[in-house]
Amino acid sequence: MELRIATITDAEAIIAFDHVAASEPARIQFIYHQIELSACYVAVIDAKVVAYAVLNYKFYDNGWIEMLYVHPEFRRQGIGSALLHHLVNECRTPKLFTSTNQSNFPMQRLFAMLEFDRSGFIENLDEGDPELVYFKRLRDNANITNG
Ligand SMILES: CC(C)(COP(=O)(O)OP(=O)(O)OC[C@H]1O[C@@H](n2cnc3c(N)ncnc32)[C@H](O)[C@@H]1OP(=O)(O)O)[C@@H](O)C(=O)NCCC(=O)NCCS
Repeated sequence: MELRIATITDAEAIIAFDHVAASEPARIQFIYHQIELSACYVAVIDAKVVAYAVLNYKFYDNGWIEMLYVHPEFRRQGIGSALLHHLVNECRTPKLFTSTNQSNFPMQRLFAMLEFDRSGFIENLDEGDPELVYFKRLRDNANITNG
């Protein structure tokens, strides 16, 4: 499996397996925009894009995993955890944050597996389904500066 920064030629493959993209044009714009920013990463097996993730620095200047999505036919094969682990290594800030809905049990297990800690929650985003914030300390503040 190859893990790398996405290029614009990966966009169509991502859009084809992200079911949200089928109904929400904003998701398509999001994917193109994150690729342009070099914030989008893909997992590739046999030249096929099987997952994508977005790592940017929008969360109070900290690393922020905004998206992790594995092709439905390729789940439970370790691809999500491999891509998440890759983002942990790629993150340029000492603190890495991410979040998921309280209803998203697979994602919560995945974060726990990679030793992310809970860091509060945000209500009133999705009605009746709070956003659970997760956090991972990557290295000592003394050794690195943001950006
Ligand atoms: C959540 C998601 C990224 C997991 O990707 P994946 O490639 O299937 O994950 P992995 O195979 O690396 O699984 C690692 C661990 O996560 C947990 N996990 C993953 N899928 C799970 C599921 N359906 N039910 C319970 N636990 C699950 C397990 O602990 C698993 O380890 P195990 O297989 O040894 O039990 C994938 O299901 C997905 O893309 N979901 C839709 C998009 C989404 O919800 N993204 C998150 C938005 S914040």
